[in-house]
Amino acid sequence: MGKEKGVVMDTNLKREVEIPKTEVIDQSFDWLYFTGALRAALELRLWEKVAAGLNTPGKLADKEGWDKKGAQVLLDVICHIKLLSKDGEQYALVPESEMYLMPDKPTYKGEMLLNEFHWEADGKLAESIRTGKRPVSYDVTKPNVTQLWMADYSSSWVYPESMAEIDDHLWDSLEVKAREGLRVLDLACGPAPRSLSLARRHPGVRLTWLDWKDILKTAMKVAGELGVSRQVTVLTGDLWQVALDQESFDLAFLGNLTHFFSPEDNIRLFQKVFAALAPSGLIVVRSVARPESSLGVSADLWLYAASAGGGAYGFKDYQAMLEKAGFTDITDIEQVPIRARKP
Ligand SMILES: C[S@@+](CC[C@H](N)C(=O)[O-])C[C@H]1O[C@@H](n2cnc3c(N)ncnc32)[C@H](O)[C@@H]1O
Repeated sequence: MGKEKGVVMDTNLKREVEIPKTEVIDQSFDWLYFTGALRAALELRLWEKVAAGLNTPGKLADKEGWDKKGAQVLLDVICHIKLLSKDGEQYALVPESEMYLMPDKPTYKGEMLLNEFHWEADGKLAESIRTGKRPVSYDVTKPNVTQLWMADYSSSWVYPESMAEIDDHLWDSLEVKAREGLRVLDLACGPAPRSLSLARRHPGVRLTWLDWKDILKTAMKVAGELGVSRQVTVLTGDLWQVALDQESFDLAFLGNLTHFFSPEDNIRLFQKVFAALAPSGLIVVRSVARPESSLGVSADLWLYAASAGGGAYGFKDYQAMLEKAGFTDITDIEQVPIRARKP
């Protein structure tokens, strides 16, 4: 009888062993190559050049002095990862590269992508995992990364109406009604998509936004464009330092924030919010949930790398943190945020 395919005799073990296939390893090579190509394309501002008509390897070589073969392999890999398209000999931008990879657009995310390569500059991610010392490069809770948020939320800033669409159903599922005099604290608001949608529902809703100065400046521009700026008050600076008036809010929204902090820091933060809420006030926490999908896994890695203590927590983790801060009626409303009440 012939030997089964992929089975060999291991002379050390003195028995036949099955050789694992190499697909997963080969895929890892692909990731590295794609990442390398993406970095090179960003550094070379490839999309800008293609948009300017240098849309073949030959034209890039003639005009930019690049190696023609190098230009061709780069263009092809970038096509393969769907950030360019190819028709005959010519390459062209796709809508995603047109919007997010053209350096002169306010929606440009190239700098943000390039930033992530700093992790690897000196094997820093491995060093953090070895020592537990993090963040790896930048810390998303510090004021020097406002450019990152500007890029991350670029399409919200530029197209404020696009935010309203996503967020309108959220408050219904949380059973929160926009009403006269509703006082909302949006902590680390960013472009404040969620609280803005409440303000747009009722002119009597009052928003208090807290974030860094540059973020608030742009957020206020958006509020102006949506016609609700007179409903907004801002508190500028570090959320750990800025004092909040006691018992003066009916609703506190913490969106995409708590995953940047350790459980201990979150308890401190929830205590601060608890004191700022009026009796029966609600806290709503929306964050990256514990990873199950591949998207969740990369988000968790990013949280690890970009914060000193954060991570993706599950409902039970938040329940414990919120209870420690004094909250009750803690509800996980599948796929939408956690809601809890100050008694
Ligand atoms: C991921 S964004 C969340 C924006 C918005 N809340 C949402 O739900 O999409 C995080 C925001 O937190 C702000 N932030 C982070 N650390 C902060 C701090 N220590 N003090 C004030 N704002 C902070 C950032 O400037 C950024 O706008």
